[in-house]
Amino acid sequence: MCGIVGVLGSNEVAPILVEALKRLEYRGYDSAGIATVNDGSLDRRRAVGKLINLSDTLVHTPLAGKSGIGHTRWATHGVPSVTNAHPHQAGPVAVVHNGIVENYKDLRAELAEHGFAFETETDTETVALLTQMHMSQGMDPRAAAEATIAKLEGAFALCFLFDGEDDLIIAARKGSPLAIGHGEGEMFVGSDAIALAPMTNKITYLDEGDIAIVTRTSLEIRDANGDLANRAVKVIQIDQARVDKAGHKHFMAKEIAEQPSVLGDANAHYLTETGINFPDELPDFKEINQLTLVACGTAFYACLTAKYWFERLARIPVEVDIASEFRYREPPVAPKTAALFVSQSGETADTLAALRYCEGKADKILSVVNVPESSIARESDCALPILAGTEIGVASTKAFLCQLNVLLLLAIRAAEDRGTRTPEQLANIRNEMRSLPGLINQALEAAPAMKKTAKRLSAATDVLFLGRGLMYPMAMEGALKLKEISYIHAEGYASGELKHGPIALVDKKTPVVVLAPKDSLFDKTISNMQEVIARSGKVVLVTDSQGASMIGSEAADLIVMPDVPEILSPLLYAIPAQLLAYYTAVAKGTDVDQPRNLAKSVTVE
Ligand code: F6R
Repeated sequence: MCGIVGVLGSNEVAPILVEALKRLEYRGYDSAGIATVNDGSLDRRRAVGKLINLSDTLVHTPLAGKSGIGHTRWATHGVPSVTNAHPHQAGPVAVVHNGIVENYKDLRAELAEHGFAFETETDTETVALLTQMHMSQGMDPRAAAEATIAKLEGAFALCFLFDGEDDLIIAARKGSPLAIGHGEGEMFVGSDAIALAPMTNKITYLDEGDIAIVTRTSLEIRDANGDLANRAVKVIQIDQARVDKAGHKHFMAKEIAEQPSVLGDANAHYLTETGINFPDELPDFKEINQLTLVACGTAFYACLTAKYWFERLARIPVEVDIASEFRYREPPVAPKTAALFVSQSGETADTLAALRYCEGKADKILSVVNVPESSIARESDCALPILAGTEIGVASTKAFLCQLNVLLLLAIRAAEDRGTRTPEQLANIRNEMRSLPGLINQALEAAPAMKKTAKRLSAATDVLFLGRGLMYPMAMEGALKLKEISYIHAEGYASGELKHGPIALVDKKTPVVVLAPKDSLFDKTISNMQEVIARSGKVVLVTDSQGASMIGSEAADLIVMPDVPEILSPLLYAIPAQLLAYYTAVAKGTDVDQPRNLAKSVTVE
């Protein structure tokens, strides 16, 4: 949700800033801008829309200088426009910001009383104007920025650049992540380490409330109390191969295709000869009476799937909630509760807030994350990495699969601790998990059939997804994937719910995707499918070879998956859910990797 970058370099900085922004564009792409200091003088360029528009602007009106800051925006306050684009400049200061200044209205009123006028509709402009005001009262840049930060409420990551200051960036973190990169006589600031990867792998993560005073040769960090803070410099491994498209047309296509290998690698880490390689901090699930799973979006659907696994395998009561609801509902947290937060980015504002709500209430705070250095990971008692590698496509695919994988492993561990399944039964499931990469490869081979079906889906205005049991969350995930990248209205329903309302939507123009492996609920799902067919609904049946031979001829479209043990079926049926959405979006010509209005990491509530 907005990406920010800062560079105190030894070369011209504009191309470096643009390159870093390219790597952050997944966080927002409504507008972009950079500011530099050249010969002591502060100037900026901004453009609406994708980063390419900023690059074009820079070709026609270049910006010199070896120090600069940059921003790629996901609009919160104010429409995407050049005026509302960052950096915001007020006199001698330019500011880039990720997050929301919640008290910006009060601050605007205060600034108006001092005679300041506003050019933009953004909350960020108040940060620039306050700093300008403080400087006009005689404060130096550092004191002015600190005085400004002290007045801000909300969540933010900020970078300040000053006129006349060629060797100074001030950065602040409260609620939104920020990393400082160390180079040779150069320093960098970025929303995440990926942005800085071409420049350095030596990273210092700021903590909540930190303010960093950065020059080319020094880094001073003050904590929330103003005391000097000693934050570690970590050497980060970023797998470069996973940050480019590797010949695919889209990141999403590449991330779908690499799932067999990513899952294989993840389980090479997790599955041992005799068990599961989990950290010692994991609770003994015998001591846990209640599991609370909280997440947003796709990660929430991973949690809904996990509910079935935990209940079935470990006989443990599970509550699942959307983070934005959970955090404000003030739910009671029963004794012996483990709270588990699932987040690809580890920075989702609502999920983080829900985690903080559980601090001191739940016996254990666990998380399942893709970014081990993320806030959610750092604030958990035990963080389990999903090991998906960097996910760039805004629509989550391989991270979802790897979330499911770790959640299933956790359910197996819980069953082991609680003695609800025999060691042989659990060893069997673990062994079957080893065959998943091969099965997913086979599922990917059904791509041509999905492409054909997707062509038909692309003409629809509404699509229904149906599933039962473990396929119910997958139906919702399939619908979410389709709507977010193809902009077709889609809903996922539990098949049994159909006749309680949604069946009114069925007509010959509404495709109904039925996810129905030949599992214990197959016959029930197929009865619901027949109800659709009886009302002229056009069914896309996704099933296995057994299901296909029994009932495939009745569906308008048939997609055949390899046979898979029921308990593992979500990990396989994620593939058609993803590919149907992908090919539909491609058929419609929408922007697959950067769908409208979305951003990858939602760091505002
Ligand atoms: C959808 C998608 C989102 C995220 C959600 C949570 O494809 O990616 O729904 O799952 O925004 O994000 P994380 O997992 O980073 O907390």
